[in-house]
Amino acid sequence: MKVVEDPDVLASTTRKWQTNGQVVGLVPTMGALHAGHQSLIERARSMCDRVVVSIFVNPIQFSESSDFLSYPTPIDSDLDMCQTLGVDLVYRPDAKRMYPEGFSTSIHVARLTDAWEGRDRPGHFDGVATVVTKLLAASRADKAFFGQKDFQQCAVLRRLITDLDLDVEMVVCPTVRDHDGLALSSRNERLSAESRRNALAIPTSLRSLQKHFDDGQTESATLCDSIVQALTDNDLVIHYVEIVDSTDLAPVGTAQVGNVVIVAASSGGVRLLDNHILT
Ligand code: PAJ
Repeated sequence: MKVVEDPDVLASTTRKWQTNGQVVGLVPTMGALHAGHQSLIERARSMCDRVVVSIFVNPIQFSESSDFLSYPTPIDSDLDMCQTLGVDLVYRPDAKRMYPEGFSTSIHVARLTDAWEGRDRPGHFDGVATVVTKLLAASRADKAFFGQKDFQQCAVLRRLITDLDLDVEMVVCPTVRDHDGLALSSRNERLSAESRRNALAIPTSLRSLQKHFDDGQTESATLCDSIVQALTDNDLVIHYVEIVDSTDLAPVGTAQVGNVVIVAASSGGVRLLDNHILT
């Protein structure tokens, strides 16, 4: 497994592979790899001849510098996981190389970024869109793998790839959960035992919403109320609970199959995201 810091070396390596007819998959990450990331890498491994994982804690997508500074960076165990999973190349640029002096470009995906995470974390999606564009450009990946767990991020990146005619296939992988249902996230490490227990109200209430929907309840407000109640009862601070259209992320009044229930709530000060596509 190669570990590369230089974007030119990344580009020349993937170009050589592609010249040999090999399909290159990219899994962009910020490290602190867990079983959610692992599932993306395994999917890439199964669909591509060569797998590149990028590990870069992207400073421009953090609204709060304390969040950036406290982001976990267990690089040795990350590299071990990549090695074990048969990754061909880990791209680990440093921030000065990524954003050298004079760097002046920002990619803004309009509208889709106005609400939900975009409203609460100004500039966040500009940072994500800019870094993902750079990672796709440097790697020239044929396929790129993202997690449904960050549903809005997927919607924004799908729009970006379409709008900029980027020649890459986006593959969205299902959310990986802990044994008790909590969606895996690098931020879960920050939960105290009590906050973690309370946070289980998120996946539990998403599951019961699906049951209410199966029983014939389609009014979004009523469906969401049951989640709000469960989260409040468990001391969570709710940022939003909404049922939205899966493409434009606009709230729907009457829920139907394919709509997405999106939730953001903090437990013990840790912001958690989850979602469920209605079946
Ligand atoms: P990060 O939070 O490290 O996540 C990297 C990828 O793993 C994302 O596509 C995310 O949706 C996916 N992922 C995280 N938790 C998951 C889970 N429980 N199940 C399945 N997939 C999961 O998302 C980012 O980094 C950054 O914004 C990035 C796209 C790398 C740009 O900096």
